[in-house]
Amino acid sequence: MRIFEQLESQVRSYVRHFPTIFNRAKGSMLYDEQENEYIDFFAGAGTLNYGHNNPLVNEALIKHIQADGILHGLDKATSAKKNFLEKFYYTIMQPRHMEYKLQFSGPTGTNAVETALKLARMVKGRSNVIAFTNAFHGLTMGSMAVTGNSFYRDEAFINRANVAFMPYDNYFRDGMDTSRYLYKFLNDKSSGIDLPAAIILETIQAEGGINVASDEWLRNVEQLCRDFDILLIVDDIQVGNGRTGSFFSFEKAGIHPDIITLSKSVGGGLPLSLVMIKPELDQWRPGEHTGTFRGNNLAFVAAAEVLSYWDNENLSQAVIYKEELLRKELEKMAEKYKDYSPEVRGRGLIYGLHFPENGLCSEVSSEAFNRGLLIELAGADDEVLKFLPPLIIEEELLIKGLGIIDDSIQAVLDKKEAMLHGDQQ
Ligand SMILES: Cc1ncc(COP(=O)(O)O)c(C=O)c1O
Repeated sequence: MRIFEQLESQVRSYVRHFPTIFNRAKGSMLYDEQENEYIDFFAGAGTLNYGHNNPLVNEALIKHIQADGILHGLDKATSAKKNFLEKFYYTIMQPRHMEYKLQFSGPTGTNAVETALKLARMVKGRSNVIAFTNAFHGLTMGSMAVTGNSFYRDEAFINRANVAFMPYDNYFRDGMDTSRYLYKFLNDKSSGIDLPAAIILETIQAEGGINVASDEWLRNVEQLCRDFDILLIVDDIQVGNGRTGSFFSFEKAGIHPDIITLSKSVGGGLPLSLVMIKPELDQWRPGEHTGTFRGNNLAFVAAAEVLSYWDNENLSQAVIYKEELLRKELEKMAEKYKDYSPEVRGRGLIYGLHFPENGLCSEVSSEAFNRGLLIELAGADDEVLKFLPPLIIEEELLIKGLGIIDDSIQAVLDKKEAMLHGDQQ
């Protein structure tokens, strides 16, 4: 690992949690240079919903490269982009009666968020945007301004104005309807909150700790947007692409966002971001928002392939089936370790096991890594174990992975007990 420490910036993070050199990966498994195996409950932070080296993707990429297909296209018309657009339209948009224009931003999620915020401000001619407590939308300047966590915000000594934060659903954990709170601020001419161009939200706050908004709250926020002429941006970068069982996370709530951001798994493992814009909002002048790496053509090839998972209901049903299994196992663990006040939360194949005790989740994640499993943490204080396996994970592997987590929690708690007794003797 010396070369990484010697040359790579201090900013590196995941390598500290998972200190090995990964060499290859397939489906829901990773292998390091020593051929140690790791079950993947991390899925590249939501990028690998369809698994590592999905055979559909690999075959199509090899074919594209061998045929000298276009790699870099800016926003020129290419065959790969045409195939993706057609597939996305007929597989995703048309069956859902969705009318949107697609804009390809730079390749990472934060590029899509920047694009959405810039467009909303431009269309409405207003500077303010409302975001929510515990939101995570990326770490470039505009996205960071709508991200709640001070760990990320504090390092940037720039102007982070033009954003007002409001409490997310269930923020106070006392049943208070925070959409009414938001209504009060918008309706009161003296609240000090400027009428925003947009409200940006995640339907499930992933990085923020697996906080699931209720359908009713989402509908209330949408209604507020309509009543006050505010655009609704849904950031579906992490929990879209089938994570909750439907392609978009907001389908169950029946809301119709004005702007939707997609990234991560939309590219089938390759870097791709896109912004879906209601046609009347597509007010850009040609070339007004550009970027050299918009619409990577290899990613279009991969993205068109993985959309075939949406030709039928099989993947959706598999996600719902595996959710049931995951939730039951987590509830069993919550019962078993109830002295540590755990809480299970999530939807689809994104779940969190929250432990209030400082540092406990981090120790469990390290222990699980030593036992052959990757799991990430979420929440402002890393107080949530974040279960995010590829959607295509085999049932046996999911169960095996959950067994590793259970054993890891037990081992960490046993160590704590032993230390406590040691101290008392
Ligand atoms: C909801 C959401 N929005 C935006 C982003 C930023 O994406 P990226 O890290 O690709 O810039 C993330 C990343 O985790 C995310 O979860």
